[in-house]
Amino acid sequence: MQRRDFFRLCAASAAAAGMPAFAVAGATARRYARALLVDARGEPLRAASVPPRRNLIFHYPYTATPCFLLNLGRPVRGSARLRTADRRDYEWNGGVGPQRSIVAYSAICAHQLAYPTREISFISFRAEASARNRHADVIHCCAEHSQYDPAEGARVVAGPATQPLAAILLEHEPATDALYAVGTLGGELFDAFFAKYAMRLALENGAAERREVAGTAVVTALEQYCRQQVKC
Ligand code: FES
Repeated sequence: MQRRDFFRLCAASAAAAGMPAFAVAGATARRYARALLVDARGEPLRAASVPPRRNLIFHYPYTATPCFLLNLGRPVRGSARLRTADRRDYEWNGGVGPQRSIVAYSAICAHQLAYPTREISFISFRAEASARNRHADVIHCCAEHSQYDPAEGARVVAGPATQPLAAILLEHEPATDALYAVGTLGGELFDAFFAKYAMRLALENGAAERREVAGTAVVTALEQYCRQQVKC
């Protein structure tokens, strides 16, 4: 059974509750089951071990919905005021972890829902600029060149996308250095995603594509998850 609760969080209340401050939620925040991020061996992924400026992928909040986990290699403390395509405002409040450098986003492009599969990925974080990408350190979708700034809540910086990538809300546990995914913030596109790729997702996931992730979520390097990355 899917259980989804709308929720509101703020840095002040998180601090008051003894929780690490992370992205401040707004009207678009949605709580899902809390999932510990783990490596391929099932061991908790330590924030200190997340390599800077590399594409890591995990699936959350559903079995078939991919997300990027990124260590931007620098503190991301500032907040970003963002708006969904249906004009709902929200505020994203930066990275988590000891350096506040770790962020996570849905890897489903907000334009026409391109996403990383086992065979190919048109969308990924690009540390370097290129002929088709004048911005460095952006998430770039080569399908039609939408680009998103992961240091600004995945704000659209180029291309046809009409809203940021949905942010994945993370918690960092200082005592253990563990990371948890706890929800989403921004314009979810999961219903459209499941509708567009219904047959494929059902075949790939044994009809469990919309099962909510709970307990743990396995984090993998994108180059290990996906056979071919399209660069542009
Ligand atoms: S699907 Fe990503 S830019 Fe069109």
